[in-house]
Amino acid sequence: MAPQAAPHPEPGPMPSLQCWRLDTPGQTLAFASWDGRLPGVVYWGAPLPSTEDLEALARSQVRPLAPGTLDQVAELSLCPEEGRAFPGQPGLRLRDGRGRPLATQFELDAVEAEDGTIRFLARDRHRSLRYRACFEAAPGEEVLRARAVVEGAGDLILDWLAAPVLPLPQDAADFIDYVGRWSREFGEERVGFARGVHLRESRRGRPGHDHFPALVVPRPGATATQGTAYGVHFGWSGGHRMIVEELPDGRRQLQFGLSCSRDDRDRNEDGGFESGVIHFAHAEGGLSGLAQAFQSHVRRHLVRLPDAPAPRPVHFNCWEAVYFDHDLEVLKDLANRAADLGAERFVLDDGWFGKRDDATSSLGDWRADPRSYPQGLGPLIDHVEGLGLGFGLWVEPEMVSLESDLARAHPDWVLAPEGYAQIPGRGQQALDLAKPAVIEHLFEALDALLSSHRIGYLKWDHNRDITLAFDAEGRDLAYRRTRALYALIDRLRARHPQVEIESCASGGARLDYGMLQRCDRVWLSDSNDARERWRMQMAAMTFLPPEVVGSHVGPRRCHSSGRVLPMAFRAAVALTGHMGLELDLRELSDVEADELRRAIDFYKDNRAFLHAAREYRLEPVGEETSARMSVDDAGDCFLLFAATLAVPRAEASVPLRLAGLDPARRYRVRLCNPEVLQSAATRHFPSPLLTGSGLSLSGAALMQSGLVLPLAFPDTLWILEGRAVGERRGAG
Ligand code: GLA
Repeated sequence: MAPQAAPHPEPGPMPSLQCWRLDTPGQTLAFASWDGRLPGVVYWGAPLPSTEDLEALARSQVRPLAPGTLDQVAELSLCPEEGRAFPGQPGLRLRDGRGRPLATQFELDAVEAEDGTIRFLARDRHRSLRYRACFEAAPGEEVLRARAVVEGAGDLILDWLAAPVLPLPQDAADFIDYVGRWSREFGEERVGFARGVHLRESRRGRPGHDHFPALVVPRPGATATQGTAYGVHFGWSGGHRMIVEELPDGRRQLQFGLSCSRDDRDRNEDGGFESGVIHFAHAEGGLSGLAQAFQSHVRRHLVRLPDAPAPRPVHFNCWEAVYFDHDLEVLKDLANRAADLGAERFVLDDGWFGKRDDATSSLGDWRADPRSYPQGLGPLIDHVEGLGLGFGLWVEPEMVSLESDLARAHPDWVLAPEGYAQIPGRGQQALDLAKPAVIEHLFEALDALLSSHRIGYLKWDHNRDITLAFDAEGRDLAYRRTRALYALIDRLRARHPQVEIESCASGGARLDYGMLQRCDRVWLSDSNDARERWRMQMAAMTFLPPEVVGSHVGPRRCHSSGRVLPMAFRAAVALTGHMGLELDLRELSDVEADELRRAIDFYKDNRAFLHAAREYRLEPVGEETSARMSVDDAGDCFLLFAATLAVPRAEASVPLRLAGLDPARRYRVRLCNPEVLQSAATRHFPSPLLTGSGLSLSGAALMQSGLVLPLAFPDTLWILEGRAVGERRGAG
């Protein structure tokens, strides 16, 4: 029989303790290191008083030793170590050149803390390894960034390095995971915490449609507008791995890192291996609080628009109008119609180059197809500019069709390990970006395109998963591919700073913050179905501000869902993002054209406001009403978008409670689009919302008792405007 644990173990000496903190206006992060070991996060939450005794805080978290366990509780440090007997997933898995695992016991060497930054430097003397974790907070911002680096002499094989590991709250019942597929990205799935590991991994060389690399953890009672929520995003554009783990003792950890393994050729400039960057925040104000924190972070620190704060121009994209069937006269006609409706940029999508009659050929041959463009792109660009529109172009630089001049000239540039069959994706293959000659060629080809034409925008696509990304010796190329891509875009942007880039990957398979640091817009989904888009855009709002989310008015019968949706709804949904049109404009009836024109005018009048405002996601009312709201910083005015998505359950609508207003001020609220009122849904609605003077109520009443809206058929989007009495909202 196993000996019983002593009921009162001898108390050992009190371990020594060092603590640090990093504060943003709305949160505190506290770290503790015991006996000089690697520190861990001991507190992440609402701001602590500046006088807080951090040592007492850390000691308050000391865990009792349970019978049948080791004599010391292994710490959930920034990099939980196998060598310290951590019982869960370790933050580092490293092997030496002969493949032998290196279990570490890091000791803290130094801590460098400056304004808004804290760096922990640790060393494993026995293994001659160094570990570094760095946390940064930009002044005034809530979102923090953190990354880890591991370094060591000799040959090393890195199988896993987590970005600094964060503890997750133990009282949360569940978390929000992101799930999806092509044309249905950004599904929010509530997953209950359970003992063990919840693993999401992309081994596709890009984040993928099925997992936007992020996690949201609402604490008990958190809603769309209230309570505490935690959000973490991993900004890496290759494959990633996310581990949510609950340990046997109830502690929970979150790890994010790269899914590939690495060797010595993947070290960065100073000889280390990096983890990739997590962007994370704690917020009060529920999901809306998180949205405001992350949107501000993207606005101020990631996206660098060439002409900020230039208004986001209304796009016309020809893809769903003509697909591969490019005819100069038809395109000019579409441009005329787009200009007449109010579009400001014409985007020539796939089909303009090589002999691209369908998806099976020509990727890599970035020269205009002489059959459709006998004098090159010049005449179309001249025409488009003559109408007052800018010109944008679709490219897919990382890919190649086997049926192309490029593949014929450089068969060795196609990513295909010798002896392996590489399954085509959309009929195409990927280029081996790890080869410097390939990157040099791509730079020259794109530079030539941008230098010889007036192109203000590139839609940069990536339409297949990356598989079998290893070289002849079996070494993983995934890390180098993504680094090479980043360097290529950075170099192009430096050469052509006026060119905007949109990141697209068959829709939203690659729209992480790594891309957003070098792009200006993301194509959220290939679905232009307004109902699907509304749902996806509501979910994406937690991490993306509306001005970077490309959002197009699609055809009457949606090409990806077959749904037929009214123009008023399609157009209103599109204007809640970076608005565009992507349909054959020749199909428009006069009534539809008028509705569309009105929506474009509304977008132009309000985009400066919408693209700078604080966004709120309102608490949904049943399955039928879902709403978002934008409020300016001063709380002077707002725009509210409320979608009816299902047949209302009751005979009258449930009041919709607003958010983010000044409770003490009075707001004049009116319905901006009363023309969408359907008499068959609402027989009569004698509400001041429909009058010119509107309804005047305090912010408190609007937030507490809410607004009753007319009953509507599904696929109706109400737009309401509110202004604090006596204040004016600036127009765009
Ligand atoms: C991808 C994009 C689409 C379109 C096509 C062109 O699927 O997501 O928007 O550009 O490629 O082939």
